[in-house]
Formats: sequence, structure tokens, C-alpha cells
Amino acid sequence: MRKILITGAAGFVGRHITRRFLDFSDEVHAVDSVVPYTGGIDPHDGWPLFDPREYSNFNFYKEDCRGYFKRVNDDDFDYCFHLAAMVGGRLMIENNPLAVAEDLAIDSGYWQWAAKTRPIKSVCFSSSAAYPIKFQRKKDYCLLSEEMIEIGGDIGMPDMSYGWAKLTHEYLASLAYEKHGIKSVTYRPFSGYGEDQDDAYPFPSICKRAMKNYGKPILNVWGTGDQMRDFIHIEDCVDGILKTVDKIDDGSAINLSTGIYTSFKEFAKIAAEVCGYSPEVIGLSSKPAGVFARAGDTEKQRKLGFAHQIEFQTGIERAIEYYAK
Ligand SMILES: NC(=O)c1ccc[n+]([C@@H]2O[C@H](COP(=O)([O-])OP(=O)(O)OC[C@H]3O[C@@H](n4cnc5c(N)ncnc54)[C@H](O)[C@@H]3O)[C@@H](O)[C@H]2O)c1
Repeated sequence: MRKILITGAAGFVGRHITRRFLDFSDEVHAVDSVVPYTGGIDPHDGWPLFDPREYSNFNFYKEDCRGYFKRVNDDDFDYCFHLAAMVGGRLMIENNPLAVAEDLAIDSGYWQWAAKTRPIKSVCFSSSAAYPIKFQRKKDYCLLSEEMIEIGGDIGMPDMSYGWAKLTHEYLASLAYEKHGIKSVTYRPFSGYGEDQDDAYPFPSICKRAMKNYGKPILNVWGTGDQMRDFIHIEDCVDGILKTVDKIDDGSAINLSTGIYTSFKEFAKIAAEVCGYSPEVIGLSSKPAGVFARAGDTEKQRKLGFAHQIEFQTGIERAIEYYAK
């Protein structure tokens, strides 16, 4: 039985990682203060896809992880998954950049704690938002590959305070390895999605809007609707992590991506077709859209033994079936 720490465990990604380790019968220590306007759900209110309280190996601490880091000095963790972050959807990233900048404090707290307690492996969550936005513009976008962020070299301008904080998190991971020998791996998930994601994210909101507007001639999406993302199912993300987690120790990053660009218009069209109608999809350009095109190169993941399995159409079908129930 391994001893696992998961910060931000009550959030969207955290719930899926927690479930895997509970099913492996590992001892899971889940820390989350269930911050408003994040995707966090208190386990005492029940989690959408399973009930962690049914597992005797589930230990939940409803507290700020910085308080946990001050209070707990256990030096026998096998893996520490550090997910706690102020994320929110696009509205939060664009309109509340200083709230999101709290991630700088959350992450520095993590690394100071890790230097003291020396877990066998730290698993850090950066983001595709850390990539330079110059590679994501309408005229000259390209698949984002891990070496486009060169710590100690060219790092470019990331996406808002969220991307800056993630970049700093990556830098701290490299310093923790160099100066303290702290082993870690960093993940850069692209647009992770799943049926239990918070409605502030495009995936559930577009699926639910397609269902609600069934039969209508027009379906709206945010921005121009031409903006493109790389949607990867959350279960694929967790598989990718489990397959690669022991293959990197120096904190360097791996994308979690499919390499496939899908525009919001294409996404809404598929969702409507799954519901059984074919509306015209129109962008609401008054709403924030973020960068034009963001998708991740898959070569490094493939070399390390991971490729996504769940096609986006299948993910949409599953979610619509789940929401219909
Ligand atoms: N979902 C994705 O596709 C995606 C993409 C890129 C990166 N990530 C990264 O993965 C991680 C998890 O993201 P998510 O989508 O699950 O977000 P989420 O909002 O669903 O979960 C974040 C969790 O962190 C908790 N939290 C925030 N501040 C905290 C603090 N100080 N102490 C304890 N808990 C705190 C929140 O309560 C929430 O439960 C984040 O670091 C995020 O940046 C996710």
C-alpha cells in the first residue's frame, strides 16, 4: 500500500485521480479547502461519479493546503499530486487575474514543504496555458511541443496570470531538483473534459446548451466560435499520468493532449447532432474566447508510451447520455 497526497483532490482532475488510487487500495490523503468558484465539490455533499466516503482508505482534510503544509510534516509519501489551484473557466482567468495569481503562493508553499518532507515523487500540474501565446495566434499557430518552453532560455509570454503562475511552478520544479534533488514530473494538460466538470468550462456548458436548445435553428457558442482547442478526456489524462509518472524525475514537462484541433463551432455541431438536430452555430463575440488555436504535440507522450484512446465524439455522447439521466 502506497501513501499518496493529493492537493486539490475535490476538484475535477483531483476526483478522477483520487478514484484511481482508492481503487488501487492505496492510502489516499486528500486535501482541499473547496474554494468557491473553482470546480471543487465537498465529498460530504457526494461526488458526481462515485462516493469516496465508501472507501476506508480515503482520508479527507478540508483545509487550505498551505495550512496542511505547515501542520503536517510526514516524510513517508510515495507520490504527492499537487493539483490545488485557483483555475475557474475563461471568465475567471481573464477577469480575475489577481485571484488566479494566488497560485504563485500555493505552489511556493508546496515546494518549500516538498524540500522539507522529501516525498519520493512530486507530480505537478502545469497547463497548456504556460505556452507562449505567439504560437497560438490566428496567422501562425502550430502544435505546441514541450521544448517550446525552455527553462533557462526562451520562455515567451504565457496566457495571463494563470500561465505565468504555471510557468513559475515549472521553474520551481527544476530548481527543487537541481538544488535539493527533489524528484518530480510536470504535466501540461490541454482542454481536459468529462461529464462531471464544472459548468464554468466549455465542455459541460456547450453539451448542456445543445440539449436545452433541442430543435432550435440557432445554437450559440462563446467568442467567434472559430477558436480551437485540444479536448482530451479526463480518463485519458489519468491514464497518461499513470503510464508516464515514473519516467521523468527532473521536473520536466509532458503534454496531455491529442494533437487534434476542434473549433467551438465544430464541437457544438457534434453535440447538437448527438442530440438529433442540426442548428446553425453562431459565435457570441462579446464573450471571452482566449487564444485562437491551442493544441499539443503528442510525440513525447507517444515515446513515453501514452496515446489518447477516447475520441471526442465518444466523450460528447457519453456526457449527453449522462446529463439526460
Ligand atoms: N482540467 C483541465 O483540463 C486542466 C488543464 C490544465 C491544467 N490543469 C491543472 O490541473 C489542476 C486541477 O485542475 P481542475 O480542472 O481539477 O480544477 P478545479 O477547479 O476543478 O480544482 C482545483 C481544486 O483546488 C482547490 N483549491 C484551490 N486553492 C486551494 C488551496 N489553497 N488549498 C486547497 N485546495 C485548494 C479547489 O477547491 C478545487 O477543488 C490545476 O492545477 C490546473 O491548473 C487542469
